[in-house]
Amino acid sequence: MQKSETGNRMNPYQPIPARILKTFDETPNIRTFVLKPEQEVEFLAGQFIELTVPGFGEAPFTPSSSHFKRDKLEMTIMKVGRATSALFSLKEGDMLGIRGPYGKRYPLEKFEGKEIFIVGGGVGLAPLRALFLALTHEVEKYKKIFLRYGARTPNDIVYKSLIPEWRNLKRVDIDLSVDVGDESWKGKVGVVTVLLEKIPCDAKNSVAVVCGPPIMMKFVTIGLLEAGFPGDAVYLSMETNMSCGLGQCGHCRLGPYFTCKDGPVLTWEQVKDIENPFV
Ligand SMILES: Cc1cc2nc3c(=O)[nH]c(=O)nc-3n(C[C@H](O)[C@H](O)[C@H](O)COP(=O)(O)OP(=O)(O)OC[C@H]3O[C@@H](n4cnc5c(N)ncnc54)[C@H](O)[C@@H]3O)c2cc1C
Ligand code: FES
Repeated sequence: MQKSETGNRMNPYQPIPARILKTFDETPNIRTFVLKPEQEVEFLAGQFIELTVPGFGEAPFTPSSSHFKRDKLEMTIMKVGRATSALFSLKEGDMLGIRGPYGKRYPLEKFEGKEIFIVGGGVGLAPLRALFLALTHEVEKYKKIFLRYGARTPNDIVYKSLIPEWRNLKRVDIDLSVDVGDESWKGKVGVVTVLLEKIPCDAKNSVAVVCGPPIMMKFVTIGLLEAGFPGDAVYLSMETNMSCGLGQCGHCRLGPYFTCKDGPVLTWEQVKDIENPFV
């Protein structure tokens, strides 16, 4: 089948059928869906897709799996409203639709030779997992990968079974925090900015990547800039409301940008003059 510039098919609104192979409950309200699309979705870390839930319409999500393994596509999704509730009612074997990928990828060539400081909050670790897996796949290209992740409680941590494996990877350094601990929790307690108190890399020459709720993104960005990260090296996932995903409807407008086309990842340098960019 011939491909369009913006997706995998000639008609960019035509979804590709995808079967739900497996689901994993990450937390009480976050689930990972393993999908088998009928056609390979050629996404790169940073890009997103529009997922069609039959009978309920579409919503944008970012694949959380590695772009080096595209035979299956994983997405880690929080149940928040209508489309995501309908999605959570589906079972293994059920069909969904996928169109995309849309948006821009992370410019990994600019990350080469550098320390990379990744900060995630809540379900925001899902899009960052695709980046983390892409980086660790070719880890010799990067100096070091720091992953900092904050969740509300120990029960709200996503990828709990994977994080111990990630800690053993070469050139990887991981630290976690929870807003509220429990008797089992031995790590840091406090909002995710507690993980910025000691930044162990050379901030001026490093890259930072952030994804999470708007309020978290705001305070983490302030902390990163204070620590010395250059504004054009702070990459932010701007998950504004989206509809077409194709730069045509204007729903995703953020200042001069259409985040579906120019983003969803934009640097602080790009958004710093926008009034309240973290919406
Ligand atoms: C590029 C992009 C990538 C995304 N990737 C992921 C992902 O990997 N995993 C994931 O769980 N979610 C992701 N989201 C958010 C996801 O698209 C929304 O949670 C989803 O559209 C909500 O649909 P709904 O019908 O269930 O909720 P609705 O019924 O539409 O809304 C319910 C509540 O969720 C809020 N909400 C709706 N859309 C968003 C949004 N975009 N961001 C934050 N809150 C929202 C509404 O304000 C409302 O309070 C992404 C969003 C974008 C734009
Ligand atoms: S979602 Fe339609 S223009 Fe961006």
